[in-house]
Amino acid sequence: MGVIRLVLLGLVATGAEGGACTPVDSCPKLSDGLYCPVNDVTEHADINRDVALIKRYLDDPPDYAMAKEVYTMGNSSSKGLGNMRTLQDLALKDMTVDGKYTNVFYTGALNLYNSTAAIWHNYIMACLDNTTFCQGQSDSFRRYVVNKALIGVVTAYATYEFGAAVWKGENGQTADGQAAYAWDEGAAFYIGNIDPVLGDGFSGAAPGNLYSPYEFNWKRDFDYPDGVNTHQASIPILNYGLINVRGSYNATNVKAAELAMYKIFSIAAIRSAIKYADKAYNGGTMEPKYLAEGWAYWRSASGYMSNFNATAVEAVDALFDLSQTSIPADTPCKVKTLVESLYPHLGITCAMVGKWKDATTGSCLDLPCDDAGNSATLLAGSDAYVDMCKATTTTTTGSSETSAVGRAALPAAGALAATLALSCQ
Ligand SMILES: *[C@@H]1O[C@H](CO)[C@@H](O)[C@H](O)[C@H]1NC(C)=O
Ligand SMILES: *[C@@H]1O[C@H](CO)[C@@H](O)[C@H](O)[C@H]1NC(C)=O
Ligand SMILES: *[C@@H]1O[C@H](CO)[C@@H](O)[C@H](O)[C@H]1NC(C)=O
Ligand SMILES: *[C@@H]1O[C@H](CO)[C@@H](O)[C@H](O)[C@H]1NC(C)=O
Ligand SMILES: *[C@@H]1O[C@H](CO)[C@@H](O)[C@H](O)[C@H]1NC(C)=O
Repeated sequence: MGVIRLVLLGLVATGAEGGACTPVDSCPKLSDGLYCPVNDVTEHADINRDVALIKRYLDDPPDYAMAKEVYTMGNSSSKGLGNMRTLQDLALKDMTVDGKYTNVFYTGALNLYNSTAAIWHNYIMACLDNTTFCQGQSDSFRRYVVNKALIGVVTAYATYEFGAAVWKGENGQTADGQAAYAWDEGAAFYIGNIDPVLGDGFSGAAPGNLYSPYEFNWKRDFDYPDGVNTHQASIPILNYGLINVRGSYNATNVKAAELAMYKIFSIAAIRSAIKYADKAYNGGTMEPKYLAEGWAYWRSASGYMSNFNATAVEAVDALFDLSQTSIPADTPCKVKTLVESLYPHLGITCAMVGKWKDATTGSCLDLPCDDAGNSATLLAGSDAYVDMCKATTTTTTGSSETSAVGRAALPAAGALAATLALSCQ
C-alpha cells in the first residue's frame, strides 16, 4: 500500500490533484471519442449542456425566463462546493486576467467592440429580455441571436484556456494538473461531452445534439465539402497542443496548435458569413433569423480577424447589422470579397475554406477564389493520443466487469475512489 500512498503524495506535490482522474489513467473522453484528456474535464465540457438546455427552453413556445435563469445561474456545469459555472460568467470573463495571459483572440474582440459585455453579453440579455435592438423582434430572431451567440461565448472561452496553458507552460507548470489541465479544459469547452445521438462523434454527418463549437464547425464542414474538414482536423491539433505542454513545454509547437485552432475558428466564421449572408438576403425577402445566425457566427471569430484588418472586419460587421430590415442583393458578394481579402493574413486559403455547396450556379458565390501567392498550410497535429483513457476494471462482489472509458460509459468514479481509499489504510 506504500506505493499508492507515494503516488498520492506525488500528485499533491506536483499540484496534479486539481483535475486528476479516478483512477488516474481512466480519464473520460469527450464527444469525439479520440482526444484523451489527462484530467477529468467533465464539468467543463458540461457547459455545452447548458447551451443545449437554453436552446430547448427557447424552442416553441419559448420560455425566456427559464432560458435566462440557465444563462445567469447555470445548470449542468459545477465548479465544486456548490458553485455553478455559468455561460454568463464565461461571456463576462476577462480572458487575459488583467493582462497576465496573452489571448489575441479575445483582445482583438475587445478592441473591436470596446468592452467584454459588448462582445456577447449585452446582445444575449437584450434578446432574453426583449429590450433595445431585440425589442419586438420575432421569437425566431431572438432565439437565433441567443442560441448562436452562446456558441461564440464557449468558443472564446476555449481560447481563454489555451492562453492559460501557454502561460503555465512558459512558467514551468508542466505537470498534468497544470498547463495540461488548462489545455484539456480548452478541448472540453470546444468539443463538449454529450453523447452523439448519431454516429461516432467524429465521422459522417453532425449528430445535431452536441451544441458545442466543435459541432458548429462540423456543420460548416458539411456545407463546404471540398474545403478542409475542420472538426476532424481540430482533434489531432488539440492533441498536439496537449503533448507539447505536458511534462515539458515546447513553446513553438504549443503556439502552433493555438494558432491552428484560431484558423479553424476563423474558417467556420467565414463559411458562415458567406452562407448566411445569402440566406438572410433570401432572394430579396429578408429572413431575419438568418441575419441573426450570420451575425452571431461571423462574430465568433471577427474580433480575432480584426487584428489583421479591422477595416475589412468592420465592413462585414456593418453588412450583418442586426437593425437592418432588408438585405441588399449585393451583400453576399461583398461579404465574400471582404473575407477573402483576409485569408493571406489569417494563414488560411481558399482551398481550406472551400466553396459553399448551395452557391447558386453563376452567382458571385460560385466564382472561384484565388490562392495565387498564398501557400498557407494548416497544422496536421498528432494522432498519437495519450494513454490516459484506459478501460477500467471494477470488481464487485463475485463478478468482474470492464467498462470502456468514453462517452457512453463513464467510470464508476465514486466506487473506485472508495476502493483506492480502502487500499491505503
Ligand atoms: C437543470 O435543468 C433541469 C431541466 O430544466 C431541471 O430539472 C433541474 O432542476 C436543473 N438543475 C439545476 C441545478 O438548476
Ligand atoms: C468603440 O469605440 C470607438 C472609439 O470611441 C468608436 O469609434 C467605435 O464606434 C466603438 N465601437 C463600437 C462597436 O461601439
Ligand atoms: C416585446 O416588447 C414589445 C415592446 O414593448 C412588446 O410590444 C412585445 O409584446 C414584447 N414581446 C414579448 C414577446 O413580450
Ligand atoms: C520542439 O519540438 C520540435 C519538434 O516538433 C523540435 O524540433 C524542437 O527542438 C523542440 N523545441 C524545444 C525547445 O524543445
Ligand atoms: C483592409 O481592408 C480594406 C477593406 O477591404 C482594404 O481597403 C485595405 O486595403 C485592407 N488593408 C490591408 C493592409 O490589407
